[in-house]
Amino acid sequence: MLKEILALKKTVVILNGDLTLRILLPDQVSNCYVEWMNDYEVTKYTEQRFEKTTRSEIELLLAKMLNSSTDLMYGIFLSGEHVGTIKLGNINKWHMTADLSYLIGSKRHWRKGIATTAIAEMTKIGFTKLSLEKISAGVYANNAASIRVLEKNNYFLDCVKKSHFIFENNRIDALSYAREK
Ligand SMILES: CC(C)(COP(=O)(O)OP(=O)(O)OC[C@H]1O[C@@H](n2cnc3c(N)ncnc32)[C@H](O)[C@@H]1OP(=O)(O)O)[C@@H](O)C(=O)NCCC(=O)NCCS
Repeated sequence: MLKEILALKKTVVILNGDLTLRILLPDQVSNCYVEWMNDYEVTKYTEQRFEKTTRSEIELLLAKMLNSSTDLMYGIFLSGEHVGTIKLGNINKWHMTADLSYLIGSKRHWRKGIATTAIAEMTKIGFTKLSLEKISAGVYANNAASIRVLEKNNYFLDCVKKSHFIFENNRIDALSYAREK
């Protein structure tokens, strides 16, 4: 599986129209990327919301992702513009599982079908190129848009951790969606 993961990191994946997925290199972190990671509207349904994220932390993360044998992280590009990220993380070769996560940082590109399309492609890559058998995605119970993009990709509600997170002073459930091959 390591060979397949490393090969995928060298690939540019063309989606429909002008949408592409490709590896983000540590020296290519745009100002926009740093801004998204510190924009509460973008991060409020993620664990990212608690801490300020610096450019050097993103660079370190990308360097780690580049060399990781258990993670495949791509930048999502629209007509060459970096608009988001998507990742299959914790790839487990014994159980043939992985965790899917995604973020469209560029808010003016929300609701254009970008996450739906990127998730469809990452799911296909996971099942066909990496031979995964189950892909999971964690989501806050109040993140309606994220739940919608998972359901549009035929992910099912796999389990609920009741009152798992604090969100704006309320306890909310953590949901895990999943899709099997
Ligand atoms: C959630 C997110 C990935 C969606 O990306 P996107 O590219 O805008 O998604 P799409 O355009 O493919 O689809 C969004 C769907 O959610 C729906 N939607 C959007 N906002 C909604 C809301 N507040 N309530 C209900 N549905 C909503 C849209 O109508 C659309 O469904 P439709 O095609 O049936 O109309 C994006 O908003 C994002 O990255 N948010 C911040 C980070 C985040 O939450 N990441 C996920 C963590 S689990």
